Amino acid sequence: MQTVEEKLAKSLTAESIELIPYLPYLLQDLWELGSSPKDMLDLITRHLRVSKQTKVLDLACGKGAVSIHLARRLGCLVKGIDIIPEFIGFAINKAQEFGVEELCEFKVGDITESVKTEKDYDIVVYGAVGNVLGNWEETIILLKNSVKKGGYIIIDDAYRNDKSNAKYLSREQWLKLFNDKG
Ligand SMILES: C[S@@+](CC[C@H](N)C(=O)[O-])C[C@H]1O[C@@H](n2cnc3c(N)ncnc32)[C@H](O)[C@@H]1O
Repeated sequence: MQTVEEKLAKSLTAESIELIPYLPYLLQDLWELGSSPKDMLDLITRHLRVSKQTKVLDLACGKGAVSIHLARRLGCLVKGIDIIPEFIGFAINKAQEFGVEELCEFKVGDITESVKTEKDYDIVVYGAVGNVLGNWEETIILLKNSVKKGGYIIIDDAYRNDKSNAKYLSREQWLKLFNDKG
């Protein structure tokens, strides 16, 4: 089984945990670390009804690029959690820079713990985080804890379109998983 550090390194495509202390430095010029904030916004505006009361949880939010974009454009309430304190510090500064600090809360935390306590969100975003919460079946079960009945989970990850790359689920396997897990 992989440790939290090993999964953290992998989530940022670092090949070993020795790189972890250097990640904030290596990624200092980037704000977006995984998901496209624009794609997330498009998905949400196309499919969901959002109001100022809508509560979004952005798990492993990185430097808050997705959270801040959603708060700015939709006026919704967002909580972002990430394990790297420098990323959270960056996100807090960016929220102030864009005038959405009242809408955004950013917190340092391990999402394997947060999913046990964060509950009743309208939307839970799990963007480009990979296997931090386990395999995809385990991940969906845990994410469901944090979303309210009738709410939505948005996962940004890959699916494979040929059988050769067993590392990824196929589109059919994803759909079956969503169906099986309700
Ligand atoms: C590829 S980045 C994606 C960041 C963000 N979701 C985005 O799309 O911009 C993966 C993130 O997962 C975070 N992470 C990895 N393991 C974590 C854990 N156990 N708890 C909280 N955050 C974690 C990393 O610090 C990193 O910011």
